[in-house]
Amino acid sequence: MLTPIIAAWLFVLLGGMPVATKSAPLPMERYLAKTALHAAMRGELNRTAPITADEVNLRAGARVYTRNCAGCHGFAGEAEAAFAKGMFPPPPQLLPPKACVTDDPVGETYWKVKNGIRLTGMPGFVDSLSDTEIWQVSLFLLHAKQLPPGVLESVKP
Ligand code: HEC
Repeated sequence: MLTPIIAAWLFVLLGGMPVATKSAPLPMERYLAKTALHAAMRGELNRTAPITADEVNLRAGARVYTRNCAGCHGFAGEAEAAFAKGMFPPPPQLLPPKACVTDDPVGETYWKVKNGIRLTGMPGFVDSLSDTEIWQVSLFLLHAKQLPPGVLESVKP
């Protein structure tokens, strides 16, 4: 019964575990990470924003994004952020053309920004941004493909 535990211990001890960002993922690594994340977020996904997606909040969200997120998730018009090239898992590009989270419920983005995603490099912002700022940046990302004129363009280094 101890054999699998000893085998796993030897695997780690002998250097089998991928630790460099360029190493290939373990079999099932992506599946396990995604399943665990969705189980943790269950119940929070249906939360709606307590503020409206008006121009003032979207502009404020763009400012929060520029200061705290763009280094990993990309500035406007940038194909891939510098940090993204060397991270595993890579931070997805959240502005157009990819704008990865425009089809996620806003409550899901809020949860991820507030709590972070352990062992991925995605920080939790609960101690550094106010609740309003977290909703503002979440709404900004939800509407990333249809922002008022000038808002997207304001996200520059
Ligand atoms: C140090 C780099 C880094 C910074 C800074 C950062 N993130 Fe991330 N973020 C990541 C990584 C890496 C992932 C991918 C995690 C994964 O694959 O599970 C991620 C994932 C996300 C996701 C989930 C994307 C998806 O496709 O589901 C959202 C939303 C997000 N980040 C928003 C933000 C916001 C908003 C900020 C700023 C307030 C921010 N991040 C700052 C690295 C970063």
